[in-house]
Amino acid sequence: MTAPAEARERAAQLRAEIEHHNYRYYALDDPEVSDAEYDRLMRELQALEQRFPELVDPRSPTQRVGGAPVAEFGEVEHRMPMLSLENAFTEEEVRAFDRRVRERLAGSKTVDYAAEPKLDGLAVSLTYEAGEFVRGATRGDGTRGEDVSANLRAIRAVPLRLRGEGIPRLLEVRGEVFMPLEGFKRFNAEALARGQKVLINPRNAAAGSLRQLDPRLTAQRPLDIFFYAVGFSEGGSLPHRQHELLQTLRRWGLKTSGEARLVHGVEGCLEYYADIGARRERLAYQIDGVVYKVDDIGAQRRLGFISRAPRWAVAHKFPAQEETTVVRDVEFNVGRTGALTPVAKLEPVFVGGVTVSNATLHNMDEVERKDVRIGDTVVIRRAGDVIPEIVKVVLERRPDNAVQVQLPKRCPICNSAVERLSDQAVARCTGGLFCPAQRKEALRHFASRHAMDIEGLGTKLIDQLVDAAIVRTPADIYGLTVAQLAALERMGEKSAANLVQALERSRRTTLPRFLLALGIPDVGEATAGALAQHFGALEPLLEASAEQIEAVPDIGPIIAASVYRFFHEPHNRQVIEALVDPARGGIHWPAVARVRSSAGPFAGKTFVLTGTLEHMTREEAQELIVSRGGKMSGSVSKKTDYVVAGAEAGSKLKKASDLGVAILDESQFQKMVDSAADS
Ligand code: IVH
Repeated sequence: MTAPAEARERAAQLRAEIEHHNYRYYALDDPEVSDAEYDRLMRELQALEQRFPELVDPRSPTQRVGGAPVAEFGEVEHRMPMLSLENAFTEEEVRAFDRRVRERLAGSKTVDYAAEPKLDGLAVSLTYEAGEFVRGATRGDGTRGEDVSANLRAIRAVPLRLRGEGIPRLLEVRGEVFMPLEGFKRFNAEALARGQKVLINPRNAAAGSLRQLDPRLTAQRPLDIFFYAVGFSEGGSLPHRQHELLQTLRRWGLKTSGEARLVHGVEGCLEYYADIGARRERLAYQIDGVVYKVDDIGAQRRLGFISRAPRWAVAHKFPAQEETTVVRDVEFNVGRTGALTPVAKLEPVFVGGVTVSNATLHNMDEVERKDVRIGDTVVIRRAGDVIPEIVKVVLERRPDNAVQVQLPKRCPICNSAVERLSDQAVARCTGGLFCPAQRKEALRHFASRHAMDIEGLGTKLIDQLVDAAIVRTPADIYGLTVAQLAALERMGEKSAANLVQALERSRRTTLPRFLLALGIPDVGEATAGALAQHFGALEPLLEASAEQIEAVPDIGPIIAASVYRFFHEPHNRQVIEALVDPARGGIHWPAVARVRSSAGPFAGKTFVLTGTLEHMTREEAQELIVSRGGKMSGSVSKKTDYVVAGAEAGSKLKKASDLGVAILDESQFQKMVDSAADS
């Protein structure tokens, strides 16, 4: 079917419109229309071209990903060699560069420089003839590069046709293809979800993506481009200043960095470096330094080149964020929950501005995934304030005697057994209350408001007591004397006496509070309450099997196993016995009023408490529920009957409304309790 004139006209109009929107979006970063509107125009053009194939034009914006895969890339000779830049790593080296420039330009006092970010991607050269994109190449050896035209077309920020006035008949522009960090992260997250290999860093990602033999693969990668120079031009005139050249390129639709600035003299350069260095982590793309170029292009010509680099430009590099070094050993740190974290002990190396000698390996899964062995040479990365990380092992440099990392069977701090459940990445020390690394945190938790509520026993004091080896376990706290406490730094007689009184008061507590205070992994307030209700006293709980614990309403096999394990660690038993021993800790509680869950007005109903209630404590609310036969749970599920929400309720409240669970505010809850009492 031959295309009617209207169709031909409409196609031309759509192409012009789409090109205009590309320009607004990519070159100016200031779109006029929504993505949806843009897509609508694209789809209309595609439909027209499908209906009338004679309208298809290789320059059409629909044809970005037209080419078939190739077996290898052709070769392109650059009209002008693509040069590299001299590097400067220190302020001194930048000052020396500026001095040389001024000496050569005899008489120049202060030189103007165009300062630009140095993008960390892949250098390319694109040729436009009569404003049309005809060819694009990688840098290659500087003289000859690979023909990656089809892949460059697939990058949406590359204009297929230039716009505006004064475009030279022949124009070879240079720029850097890169992958913005956002796209890099998204791409990796998706690759991971599909079980595919992840890209190591945005630079490798950009290079790898541009060198795909199938342009359809390039099209799927979130690539972008900034232009920063003209390599060659004919039939037209160009501005005589670098900063104006960048503005002109942008007007023609060639995207340039919004961070480029005209600066005065070396001081201006150094200020620019400091400013962008401070914002580096917040930029949308990776840069490895900045480039200073003599702004006056006539002066550039006079300065000329030395070997393969211009005398009129220098790259002022940031301290490397990636370095290679050797793993001397892998040690295990024990965290506050007993989690063992493998840490690589490195041959010290200067990276990201500091000397690094440790890198976290997170957990054993990570060690296995990266296959890090002792003796390996590794690439480490430190970006900003981020903890140094091992990026990968340089397998080519693995020595024959490299040693595989083993998870220790015993805690390196307290020698208790280490446990790693088959479905979990984290390995834990089972030492619990006995392990010094966990001791401070355990003591903090023990004394906290919802647990033993010991007023005046705060973080600083606990640190002091543990560091001075006065207190090892919660049981030791109850042996503290006024004299002992008053001898501590920053502690007076009065506060020492107050603390001893608070300790005395805390001895009388409730079983749920005591169970919570023990810090059993995965046991929060609701579970502690349920355990107390079910067993009624401590002894039967200590003797219970894992199966018997699992019989407690709302306790599943994982928590049951955790509780059982805790009570069967001998050290934990010692501490518990000391705590309840009338001669030592002396902790006691009134007998638990057990309610058979089949009786009472709330029988069979499961409640979840969230947020802060105004007129009662959580414990009181819990007591009201349980004593009326209701059950408490720590998390919201479809089985939850009521969520009682106080002030600042968060995710549990949201989950409840998502699941359609009944939500009560405090007064509604109070009414329900009152009417249940009446009935
Ligand atoms: S100008 C003759 N400007 O750095 C000057 N290069 O080490 C040629 N690069 O191959 C380069 N950002 O890949 C220039 N704003 C920028 C740059 C930049 C990154 C890269 C480019 C070049 C390498 C030189």
